[in-house]
Amino acid sequence: MLVRLVYVSYANSAMSEKEVGDILEKSKANNSKKNISGVLMYSDRYFFQCLEGERKDVNKTYLRIAADSRHSRCMQIEYSQVDARLFANWSMEYVAYHGVADQLFLKYSENGMFVPYDFSAGQAVGLLSELSQAATEANTASKRSLFSWFKK
Ligand SMILES: Cc1cc2nc3c(=O)[nH]c(=O)nc-3n(C[C@H](O)[C@H](O)[C@H](O)COP(=O)(O)O)c2cc1C
Repeated sequence: MLVRLVYVSYANSAMSEKEVGDILEKSKANNSKKNISGVLMYSDRYFFQCLEGERKDVNKTYLRIAADSRHSRCMQIEYSQVDARLFANWSMEYVAYHGVADQLFLKYSENGMFVPYDFSAGQAVGLLSELSQAATEANTASKRSLFSWFKK
């Protein structure tokens, strides 16, 4: 059974690009072994992540992530059985804050603020898919590293 889980959390200290890079590297390696796909966003000390895959693998991975001392206040925003993956090509892609983010924050919130704890399931999934799509397009166009948008 294919499921999608989206959660938000708060970093225990401000993360450097290197620290987020380490999380990503480990995530890609582990997730690809379990056919887990998804995206991770980090902005204003919030982590915002989507995991998709076999239910038992997604659940196990989430429990491991939630116990990680680099962040706390993990809160699930969305958990559902789905027919298809949104991020099938990505074992874990970093979706950086970048040019279109402010417009999308406004589209998916009451006040344009990025406070992912307040998102509904629909807002969370919509924002992550549009951000990742925009990031992919921009990255393909300019061949820049996604990290060039890294927001401290
Ligand atoms: C915000 C955040 C997101 C993470 N995402 C993943 C993930 O998608 N997959 C994963 O295996 N580990 C992820 N981790 C790392 C796990 O918490 C944990 O350190 C790692 O899975 C341990 O892997 P190991 O047992 O192979 O050393 C994440 C950690 C943080 C703080």
